[in-house]
Amino acid sequence: MSENKHLIAPSILAADFSNLQKDIAMVNESEADWFHIDIMDGVFVPNISFGFPVMQAIAKYAIKPLDVHLMIVDPDRYLQTCKDSGASIITVHYEACTHLHRTLSAIRELGCQAGVAINPHTSVQLLKDVIQDIDVVCIMSVNPGFGGQKFIKNTYAKIKELRALAAGVNDRLLIEVDGGVTTDNAGELIQAGADVLVAGSFVFNASEPATMVKQLKNVSYPAQMA
Ligand code: DX5
Ligand code: ZN
Repeated sequence: MSENKHLIAPSILAADFSNLQKDIAMVNESEADWFHIDIMDGVFVPNISFGFPVMQAIAKYAIKPLDVHLMIVDPDRYLQTCKDSGASIITVHYEACTHLHRTLSAIRELGCQAGVAINPHTSVQLLKDVIQDIDVVCIMSVNPGFGGQKFIKNTYAKIKELRALAAGVNDRLLIEVDGGVTTDNAGELIQAGADVLVAGSFVFNASEPATMVKQLKNVSYPAQMA
């Protein structure tokens, strides 16, 4: 068995919005590594989640990094606000950025880690010319906009393809997977090369969320071949 070096990022989208402080405390005390914060604008995705005032409230109690997934058009408008609201990692969508290189530079200039999310229909090859400018690639394993959707199996192949694309160019790249993650697919995702697993409903819909985090963190998988 390999060491469990992967990170777990519970998605607050599935938390109890009527008692966020309780769920923030759970993540703080659990084996989770990051908070995953989904911000949606109702334009880039057909849903609206919550905005920066709520994120600021989360940041007030969170003792782990905020990994912010911006599902919004023209995210450049909000990068400074996002940083000021407590973000450590700011992830924008490839499909929402006309000048992605400029956006990634702006995120890094703010002192944040720069992330790019790609929709299920977006090829990892499209990141080739900016791969050295990215800290985290978030491979969407569902169509963004909603929690609780079915995992798309093509994700495994995309993780491997991305790792090969980054090899020798950006060996510190973190590959994140977002959508439909459970203990049924976590082992295979890690084996394929994922570094960060986002999980919303699998964690928060359970009667003991911290136990679900622990299970994802300690999932077993066969050692990778060199
Ligand atoms: C979907 C969001 C995800 C979502 C994942 O657009 O980006 O982060 O919260 O939820 P689950 O784990 O329930 O698929
Ligand atoms: Zn997300």
